[in-house]
Amino acid sequence: MATRTTILDPMLRSPESAEFEVALQSMIVGQEQGVQALMELYQVFCAGLNSPARPVGNLLFLGPTGSGKTRIVEAAAEILFGDARTVIKVDCAEFQQSHEIAKLIGSPPGYLGHRETHPLITPEALAASHTDKLKLSFLLFDEIEKASDALWQLLVGMLDKATLTLGDNRRVDLSQTIIFLTSNLGGGEITELIQGGMGFVQPKDKPATGLDEKVERTALEAARRKFSPEFMNRLDKVVVVRSLRREQLEEVLEIELRMVQRRVLERENGRFLFRVTAAGREFLLLEGTDQRYGARHLKRAIETHVVHALANLLATEQVKLGDMLCIDWDERIEQLVFWKEQAVRALPLLQREPKLGQRRAASRLTVKIPSTAKQRGAV
Ligand SMILES: Nc1ncnc2c1ncn2[C@@H]1O[C@H](COP(=O)(O)OP(=O)(O)OP(=O)(O)O)[C@@H](O)[C@H]1O
Ligand SMILES: [Mg+2]
Repeated sequence: MATRTTILDPMLRSPESAEFEVALQSMIVGQEQGVQALMELYQVFCAGLNSPARPVGNLLFLGPTGSGKTRIVEAAAEILFGDARTVIKVDCAEFQQSHEIAKLIGSPPGYLGHRETHPLITPEALAASHTDKLKLSFLLFDEIEKASDALWQLLVGMLDKATLTLGDNRRVDLSQTIIFLTSNLGGGEITELIQGGMGFVQPKDKPATGLDEKVERTALEAARRKFSPEFMNRLDKVVVVRSLRREQLEEVLEIELRMVQRRVLERENGRFLFRVTAAGREFLLLEGTDQRYGARHLKRAIETHVVHALANLLATEQVKLGDMLCIDWDERIEQLVFWKEQAVRALPLLQREPKLGQRRAASRLTVKIPSTAKQRGAV
């Protein structure tokens, strides 16, 4: 008798993981390999098919500074757990001396200062990210190439057995945890490779052909030289993140400015909208990004030149609920200038719509910002 067959589609993804991927892509520019790796682990976890005796995943992110290695983990935590601060971050550079391990796991009872040491990795800290629906945690080890031998032993044990024994003998179960490791290893060589090829100075219409592969090979070779095979074998995936190209840095700027706008709109009073002109963006990009540090300083440039100025304008009541600001670069005085445009009608929770005839004419607000701008001619 003929049996009915149903063709299955193993590539089909659940709505949760598809939604997660879309959300992550909207926060992370490029780095598709990293986004994909995280999404796959999440899908396995949601299906309950992760191994009970291992972490949900062990991911190593390799690549240049300021390219999104840490940000991707924080963004995923924001999406899944509602707060980037739920990621337990271990900065390996802080644990270079073997005795400093006590800061991580606590010291044994009876040791002087036992009560004062609060271990960083505890069952409670891992549970901080848990929601009703999702009992998953993120543990991030930054700059692992700087880890001491003692930390290294702990790390390899965690990656393998998904457990950690604290100083007071409590056991921490890491089988519901994704362990992320990041390293700039090969960073120098990668920077050499990208000089003139990628990054800020690259003209928009010239993609760096073959460079990505070279960067990937260089990073992997550096990792194999530095890390033991027993460590490399415990990783589920090594993701090599790429330097951000000029147009990608522009996208990062867009995302960061959107986050500032959200902060403004979350205020109780004084919500307003702002836009930054092309010249204003150019200035922020020059201040906050470069070939060597990627987008590492972009946030700081935005805080210094935009957020501080907006705060001043709010504090002095020069901008109010419903205003629309334009932030522009003034070539002559080499400063960002702030303009008030007409009042906005569509602003959420705008209390009173201005009558047409009552709209104020655009007025210019000046905020003195010390200009540390590099010569614009350098672009
Ligand atoms: N791909 C990206 N997508 C979105 N934002 C990014 C990206 N890369 C960098 N950024 C921005 O730059 C900042 C610094 O990036 P991040 O901390 O992820 O660098 P990193 O690769 O971890 O560098 P390091 O090796 O120095 O730790 C982030 O907080 C974010 O604002
Ligand atoms: Mg980092």
